[in-house]
Amino acid sequence: MTLGVVVLAAGQGTRMRSSLPKVLHPVAGLPLVEHVTRLADAVGAQQIVLVVSEDTLAPISAAFGHRYRYVVQHERLGTGHAVAQARAELEGKVDEVLVLYGADPLMRHESLLELLAVRRTSNAKAAIVTFQADPPTGYGRIVRDEHGAVQAIVEERNASPEQRRITEVNQGVALYDGAWLWNALDQVQPNSLNGEYYLTDLVEIGLREQGAGAIAAIQLRDPDEALGVNDRIQLAQVGAILNARKLRALMLAGVSIVDPTSTFVDQDVQIGIDTTLLPGTILKGRTTIGANCTIGPNSLIEDSQIGEHCKISYSVVEQARMELGANIGPYGHLRRGAHLMEHVHMGNFGEVKNATLGPGTKMGHFSYIGDATIGENVNIGAGTITCNFTADGKKHRTEIGANAFIGSDSMLRAPVKIGEGAITGAGSVVTKDIPDGGVAVGMPARVIRHRKLEQSENE
Ligand code: UD1
Repeated sequence: MTLGVVVLAAGQGTRMRSSLPKVLHPVAGLPLVEHVTRLADAVGAQQIVLVVSEDTLAPISAAFGHRYRYVVQHERLGTGHAVAQARAELEGKVDEVLVLYGADPLMRHESLLELLAVRRTSNAKAAIVTFQADPPTGYGRIVRDEHGAVQAIVEERNASPEQRRITEVNQGVALYDGAWLWNALDQVQPNSLNGEYYLTDLVEIGLREQGAGAIAAIQLRDPDEALGVNDRIQLAQVGAILNARKLRALMLAGVSIVDPTSTFVDQDVQIGIDTTLLPGTILKGRTTIGANCTIGPNSLIEDSQIGEHCKISYSVVEQARMELGANIGPYGHLRRGAHLMEHVHMGNFGEVKNATLGPGTKMGHFSYIGDATIGENVNIGAGTITCNFTADGKKHRTEIGANAFIGSDSMLRAPVKIGEGAITGAGSVVTKDIPDGGVAVGMPARVIRHRKLEQSENE
């Protein structure tokens, strides 16, 4: 069976009070609608069509490019009208059409698989998703016959007082026979009360044509799956549920999370076993963390790769990499392109940007290392600064050879090279290269003597 998916995203989203289209608001690390399209991919969608409005076409297509097809619903004439806009993209091309809502990101993959299975085994024209809502206000009510078969979906504004008391409601997601859907949509008439073309009218059209059995249904056991986003309060609710699901999956997979109420992990983050997340940990984007790490408390890590046995406390790590056994904090900041190799220690109030610190290098206190390559087992004394940004407005590099000892408060004015095993005295201002083994002091520092490097010193 080939599956086409229509994602309804033409709503105005006015209650978000935002210049960003509702479906692009990020939640758990992804735009709202991407949770939905991932679900479509997960159940085998061959083609995904986003129905957007004139206003949202440009930002939405800019966000996703050629990954999806886009069709514009020029007037908001109801869900039936919205789905009909995808006709040219899907008619005759797929066996089934699944309709999803672009701002409802919580449906589980398992529920969609159940929906697909129910329609396929019953050969129904349509399969709908229902749930028990308390109160059912605002939803289409599910009317069933005495045998329990779905007879109609009655929208609230069209419902009788008795029908309004029904608590089983239409969630909105539905699956249709692809050969039947488009002609059936042609038969939908505008609703007498508001002129909208209701997608839900397909239920009665199916029953009229095929009799009982035309409409299959599944009922969600977890009503959270039906939650959608109309305002920022619901955005936060949905975010909390996605986060709770992610944390649960991580804990079941061997990650300890001391306080799930203060820990936030985006959907695509991966974490190895026996890693512990302490309170106040926020892991974002495409971050990966190896096994046996301790992260937190109060740390933010974004789009970074952290190896095994690393420790990060009270720190911010962005687009950076830490290898086996490296540790930072408290109060460290790794910025874009920072790369701490094995067993690097970066202590209080350090900042590293676009720089590699070789294995075993130590940088205990108050230093800034930017645009630098630092060898192994270097000691970077407290308060060392790479002065990478010069008066010509350019960034320059600093190189420090293995086993060098940079005295406290050294200023390394880039471009500059400090040789292997070299030493700078406390407070040196280094403006010229220091050869291997050079010992430099003063302001600006000059080489005062050479020391003989002994093998044993470096071991
Ligand atoms: C619809 C269902 C209702 C169900 C409810 C669940 C119909 C007629 N009614 O209600 O049975 O209980 O969803 O939330 O289908 N949209 C468009 N273009 C339109 C209209 C809507 O793209 O012209 C999109 C919206 O952006 C949203 C989705 O369709 O993603 C649902 O629209 P909404 O107005 O929330 O639902 P209702 O039509 O009130």
